[in-house]
Amino acid sequence: MSVVIRSIASYIPEIRIDNNELAAKVDTTDEWIRSHTGIGARHIAPDGILTSDMAAQAAKSALEKAKISAREIDILIVATATPDYFGFPGTSCIVQDKIEAYGCTAFDVVAGCTGFIYALDIASAMLEARHARNALVIGAESLSRIVDWNDRSTAVLFGDGAGAAVLSRIDEPGRGCLSFILGAEGSGAKDLYLVQADRPNAFSREAPQTPVIYMNGKKVYDFAVKSITVLIERIMHATAYRLDDFAWIVPHQANARIVQAAGKRFKIPEEKFYLNMEEYANTSAASIPLALAEMDSKGVLKKNDLIMLLGFGAGLTYGAAVIRW
Ligand code: ACO
Repeated sequence: MSVVIRSIASYIPEIRIDNNELAAKVDTTDEWIRSHTGIGARHIAPDGILTSDMAAQAAKSALEKAKISAREIDILIVATATPDYFGFPGTSCIVQDKIEAYGCTAFDVVAGCTGFIYALDIASAMLEARHARNALVIGAESLSRIVDWNDRSTAVLFGDGAGAAVLSRIDEPGRGCLSFILGAEGSGAKDLYLVQADRPNAFSREAPQTPVIYMNGKKVYDFAVKSITVLIERIMHATAYRLDDFAWIVPHQANARIVQAAGKRFKIPEEKFYLNMEEYANTSAASIPLALAEMDSKGVLKKNDLIMLLGFGAGLTYGAAVIRW
């Protein structure tokens, strides 16, 4: 048996803010953002739309494409750094209710921008171990709600959206999720985190502040380039595939320069990397499924294509997946 991605879909909010519009609010320029990141625009969730709303929309589209009903889902995982509620309940449970996938296992995964790859590995292993049929793996973020719009070094980087994959266990050996690598470097937790209100003691009742992103951009940049490089080497070693065997490498869409730097080390042609951060910016756990959904709708993914997913993010975490489409 193997676990395949049976369908993939996305939800992208309609509100689009290009770099020039952003430069009217934040002290920056289109030229700086494009030359330092490759980002040209970002989409922002409208007022009142939560992470679970975007996740549910993406999930419904993925279910429709897979031609299965929500009742056939056994496991529902949402990877997110921007849950509807801090701590609990899980956004996955809210999504379960919104799409009426009653009774399935539902939980969240917190692994920053690597969250979707972590969730894919967990879902694939659970489907195998439990002889279950289908899982929904969702990456969804409303990062616009935690961006410090006064901090130009982070405000220009992020966007909102959701991507959802239906995973199914089928009898087609050699296809689907073939190999995973997951890792973390917790000493870097301080380089990318959510700054929150201090609670000096258990009974303090300070007015809540809105949490905002803090990022040491240089440290995260170096970690990202190193992670991609090490992950590619480890995949080659673990699977005996050659880079030429891969039709596509789909990296976390944080910054085109990160991908170019890592690609140069292996002399990988730029066209092998699928990049769409120009339109959506960094959507954290949603970025890889958003890219896959776009590739799928453009028809660039062919059955049996070998693809590599590469992620890195807050934690600091990193991860890779090898998938035969
Ligand atoms: N517009 C104009 N100028 C800016 C901006 C901006 N938006 N941001 C910073 N600058 C200025 C700085 O003030 C600085 O000016 P100075 O030299 O006068 O002091 C100059 O540009 C250079 O700043 P750096 O921070 O050194 O810029 P750098 O080239 O390192 O690029 C960036 C910054 C794009 C953030 C880069 O470090 C990066 O991509 N880091 C990784 C981010 C990332 O991938 N995060 C992924 C994980 S996210 C997650 O998991 C949630």
